[in-house]
Amino acid sequence: MIIAIDGPAGSGKSTVARLIASRLDFKYIETGSMYRAVAWKAERLGIALDDHERIAEVARNIIIEFQPGEERQKVMVDGEDLTALLKTETIGRSAAIVAANRDVRDVMVKQQQQMGQSGNVVMDGRDIGTVVFPNADKKFFLVADRKERAQRRHEEIRVKNPEIKYEKILEQLQQRDHEDENRKVSPLVPAKDSIRLDTTQLSIEEVVNRMLEEIGPVHSQ
Ligand code: DC
Repeated sequence: MIIAIDGPAGSGKSTVARLIASRLDFKYIETGSMYRAVAWKAERLGIALDDHERIAEVARNIIIEFQPGEERQKVMVDGEDLTALLKTETIGRSAAIVAANRDVRDVMVKQQQQMGQSGNVVMDGRDIGTVVFPNADKKFFLVADRKERAQRRHEEIRVKNPEIKYEKILEQLQQRDHEDENRKVSPLVPAKDSIRLDTTQLSIEEVVNRMLEEIGPVHSQ
């Protein structure tokens, strides 16, 4: 069984995807971290993010693995644990740029399809239900008001960075939405057969429960 969860930045995708995977005992693949890993490596190698060919080369050579961790799963990049490093807003911005590179997407989509091949996987991103697994068993598209998403981000980031301003996060989110929705390759659009869930007024638990209801009983395959 394959469960696809797509939606804009800050819609709560990765939080609920992780919880659903753990409840169902499925594998969880957070595809955003793969684009983040490519951006991170390109920057480490001093490659300009708009250097289409060299960035595509980085994507072809990078080895990204998801491994079980103590609390959360770890993202290993060329054998190095980058879980925490990849989470920053700066890497997020760079990831949005490399994610618009068609050749990078081709490589990442193929890897994601391979990772999901053995089944029983929850995968989240922007194009899972439309491009990566158009035949996924269940597709969700999570949305939430931008102000609410910025609020959630703010609360999360403020723990580590008390100086950060809500207005700044709102502005960054607006820009990310614009980039994700307007890029030429695989822009963020809901799959026609996806279940749209507005999480603005819902708690994480409520979102997870609704999704589990939609998924229904899962039989091991
Ligand atoms: O979900 P995230 O913030 O970690 O994603 C980082 C960037 O990667 C974001 O700009 C959207 C892009 N992305 C994508 O284009 N396709 C995916 N399947 C996942 C993420």
